[in-house]
Amino acid sequence: MSDLGDFTDFDGDDDGSGEDSAATDAAVDDAPTDDRPDDGGADTDSTTETSDAVADEFASVGVAPTGEDRGIGVVSATEGLRISEDSQETELRAYVTVANRSDVRIGKYLLVPYDPEASGGATAGGGAGGERLFCRITALEYAQEFRADDATEIHARRAMRQGGIDEQDFKFVATLEPVAVLYRDDGSEARSASNGRAAEPRDGELKRRMTDRVPKPETVVREATDTGEIKTGLKIPDDGVFLGHLAVGGEKVRTGAEPPTIDYRLKDDYADGDPLVFRHTLVAGGTGSGKTHSAKNVLRQYLADDRTYPVGDGGRDAAPGLVMFDPQDEYAQMHDDNPDLDDAFARRLEQEGIAHGGVDDTIAFVPKVAGASYATSDHRAEQVEFTIPFSMVQDNPWLIAGSSLNGNQYNALRLLLNRFTDDYGDGGTYQQFTTFLDDPALREELDETGRVHEATFNAVKRRALGFDGIFDQDARPITERVHEFVRSGGISVVPTYHINNSRTTVTVVLALAALLVDQKLSNDPEYERIKQTPLVLGLDEAHNFLAEVDSVQGEQIVGKFTEAAKQGRKERLGLFLITQDPQDIAEPVFKQINTTVVLNLGDEDAISAVNIPPSLEQKVPYMEKGQMVVYSPDNSDPVELVGLSRCLTKHD
Ligand SMILES: Nc1ncnc2c1ncn2[C@@H]1O[C@H](COP(=O)(O)OP(=O)(O)O)[C@@H](O)[C@H]1O
Ligand SMILES: [Mg+2]
Repeated sequence: MSDLGDFTDFDGDDDGSGEDSAATDAAVDDAPTDDRPDDGGADTDSTTETSDAVADEFASVGVAPTGEDRGIGVVSATEGLRISEDSQETELRAYVTVANRSDVRIGKYLLVPYDPEASGGATAGGGAGGERLFCRITALEYAQEFRADDATEIHARRAMRQGGIDEQDFKFVATLEPVAVLYRDDGSEARSASNGRAAEPRDGELKRRMTDRVPKPETVVREATDTGEIKTGLKIPDDGVFLGHLAVGGEKVRTGAEPPTIDYRLKDDYADGDPLVFRHTLVAGGTGSGKTHSAKNVLRQYLADDRTYPVGDGGRDAAPGLVMFDPQDEYAQMHDDNPDLDDAFARRLEQEGIAHGGVDDTIAFVPKVAGASYATSDHRAEQVEFTIPFSMVQDNPWLIAGSSLNGNQYNALRLLLNRFTDDYGDGGTYQQFTTFLDDPALREELDETGRVHEATFNAVKRRALGFDGIFDQDARPITERVHEFVRSGGISVVPTYHINNSRTTVTVVLALAALLVDQKLSNDPEYERIKQTPLVLGLDEAHNFLAEVDSVQGEQIVGKFTEAAKQGRKERLGLFLITQDPQDIAEPVFKQINTTVVLNLGDEDAISAVNIPPSLEQKVPYMEKGQMVVYSPDNSDPVELVGLSRCLTKHD
């Protein structure tokens, strides 16, 4: 326990730490420079010393690691030291030495070696040898070192005069939550279990297991500063789709490596389970919290050059296509480069394997509806007009059912649509349908034969009118443009901002979404193109389309999306939902979502609706732009991230 002397003999005036960090900072030429709140913060001296104008918030060094070969304190058994199956009964605390107190934060990740001598004690650094406990700080407290009453006049006045306390009069104790035991795998298990497919552990690869040992009292505790240890501890995959950089309290976790940040990625292969994109993603956040910025950055990764998924019987790989429903007219900008993304930033993105830049194959599919014209100048994507043919209603009668038809009326609508198709063929237009409904002889006949009561007929007719501006407009029907609409490696954006009628918007969006979903789920698809292309279906303002509404229409929509979500893995269909009102998304759809990304949310109902662990939930109202928490239980432990400060494509 030779190291221990370094700590217990502390004179409260550590000459090591200050100089250490200054030296490190000086050596690094690309410290954070922009004034964003997500940078800087605790790195007091480095920010001010920076002159380099190359802003890069993710590959820069800010704080010198406090841990490394020093440690922040020692495990204390004074108030109990216990690891239990029941996490409520676990008691793990560390005494934090004076010099480290101001750097210690709730949420920080720490390591406690089990066999300090064997692993070289606190000098274990990047991790030779022994097992260690990976843990998180969950509470920090001062306790009195000596029995004394500090709520006294004399104490108070002395403290006021000194302008501070004497730290050594107090204990500073961190409560730790064990996350996992890290250990080196000797490779024997891996060899026998190997089937040549899964990432095969090499000799000595770092692994994690459930906490099953208690560390010794007085073991030196150090901050986790090794990428491998932290990623293993939190079960973060090495490869996959980049979401952001690991952070604690809005500050990126720094390591001694280059780059010093820890990339958080979502599993995107079949090594164990399915790519998480096909198990669906929700991005929730208040207005202006960075939803679209973050969504573009993630979606851009799905269009990386080398990203493909097996299709059909697995004999072929295809790049995914993205179909993005876009109520604010923002996503066609994914066609264009972000002019604010400079070369230096781009180089670092490449270093980290993050795809960036406009996606050439981006087309805006503009719904042609009466009384609305699409005019935009803020993107250079090709624009293609289309219309929804009335024939699509045949497969999805709920499109014109509105929200108030009851079951009986809905059945009548279906009967009428069938009858209409018998009379007019598959190509009957909406215009013809309204004429058809106008025929008094039809109404009488149906009433007399007892198939549709006259009142029901009238109710259906009332609901079904008023779609004149939507169906069969003067543009090519989407059903004739499926090959253009669904493109492997391409983005199709459907802007609806120019439509200023919410019923029209909902009808258009749901008609297209239903087409994609129906074809994906069909065993006998009409459009092989849809069936065979891996698809990401993005829905911004998703609460407007997927709300739980008590009506036949609501039921049909929710039913369809729930089914789509359930079959998604098999059919390579991923839902990517974005919303500021997660509480409005129908529960059955919500339950299918595997990855939840939450940005700042102020609304309490919204926060509790996203259903993330309490430790993450409490951070949500305080998060700054670009800060997020990610709950993706099949990917990693719950984490906090900072997203990229720049959008990877154009976004304004
Ligand atoms: N991580 C970030 N860092 C810096 N600026 C950001 C970040 N995320 C978003 N912004 C900026 O904040 C503004 C609002 O973000 P946006 O994504 O459009 O919000 P919304 O949540 O309403 O979709 C945009 O100008 C965007 O570029
Ligand atoms: Mg937005």
